[in-house]
Amino acid sequence: EKGGFEHFMLKEIFEQPVTMQEVMRGRVRHEDGFVRLGGIEDYLDRIRDARRIVICACGTSWHAGLIGEYLLEEFARIPVEVDYASEFRYRNPILDEHDVVIVISQSGETADTLAALRLAKEKGALVVGICNVVGSTIARETHCGMYTHAGPEIGVASTKAFTAQVIVLYLLSLVLSKDRSLSRHDISLYLRELGEVPEKVSRILELNDQILEIAREYVDSRNCLYLGRGYNFPVALEGALKLKEISYIHAEGYPAAEMKHGPIALIDKDMPVVFIAPQDATHGKILSNVEEVRSRKGRVIAVANEGDEEIARLADHVIYIPSAAAPVTPLLNVIPLQMLSYHIATLRGCNVDRPRNLAKSVTVE
Ligand code: F6R
Repeated sequence: EKGGFEHFMLKEIFEQPVTMQEVMRGRVRHEDGFVRLGGIEDYLDRIRDARRIVICACGTSWHAGLIGEYLLEEFARIPVEVDYASEFRYRNPILDEHDVVIVISQSGETADTLAALRLAKEKGALVVGICNVVGSTIARETHCGMYTHAGPEIGVASTKAFTAQVIVLYLLSLVLSKDRSLSRHDISLYLRELGEVPEKVSRILELNDQILEIAREYVDSRNCLYLGRGYNFPVALEGALKLKEISYIHAEGYPAAEMKHGPIALIDKDMPVVFIAPQDATHGKILSNVEEVRSRKGRVIAVANEGDEEIARLADHVIYIPSAAAPVTPLLNVIPLQMLSYHIATLRGCNVDRPRNLAKSVTVE
């Protein structure tokens, strides 16, 4: 049942080139820039006319929501707010029929997300679901929605469901941008970038042995910092969550530029820092952050693009991955972070599929 893998988590990490294709199947025609999301078709005008989109979710799904904020604002130019479902529901949110609420949930059963959905409906908002489990409570109670089609996720740490959620948000952002903020040409360009992702992920998965070797050096760490910017700030949060939940090492994710505003005080030889450093507009800034960490004896693991020699001079380890357009980079950068967490946790003897104190579906509030 684990398809030859030692754990469900590893199987699910390695399934991603296939599950990513599944999300796009029947929805995307790469040749001519065509996207269709059947589940929301009847509500498309209302979503396009939204005064604001509010995304509600918990945990990893909330991280997908943060990436969704960047995607929706950049492609569709609709203002977006992202909230933890548990915070949203208890603060009497300002919401009416001009708002659209998107709830994201792998299980479709998370108690706080379900309560947020019900509250949003009560206040007259249109509620759109992004769920993995077909027929789940959240999927049934939303006005409309899209399934992530990632297949059953057994490992408690979410991996393939996360990348599927991000792809759905990417497609949604493109659909909403049509005839408004993006030209047909731009849309087909972004679809082509997305179409290349599964193959690039396969290439990243080939780095498994290298990542295992890096993991060996950090097995005894007690803390770890993850830094990224823009589209990859939420990836830093997700990398840190993956590490803490399965290896029990304390980890924090931060926007890289915020390092100077506090976390830098923590840096010493015992504080590994994982940098997500794709070659984009902020690359130079990230390099100077790496230098700052190095000069305080911090150890640096960088996820960077093939051909980036500058970073190799500064970092202790570089995981080289294929480059891509900024909006698809979270789908690539998260993969080595999933693998790194998996290896550190298994080397520490942790049960990665069933970490202590965690449940796959959190049905208590
Ligand atoms: C992290 C993880 C949790 C879930 C969260 C929401 O790996 O699995 O943080 O993401 O409990 O669950 P869903 O998406 O089922 O609502």
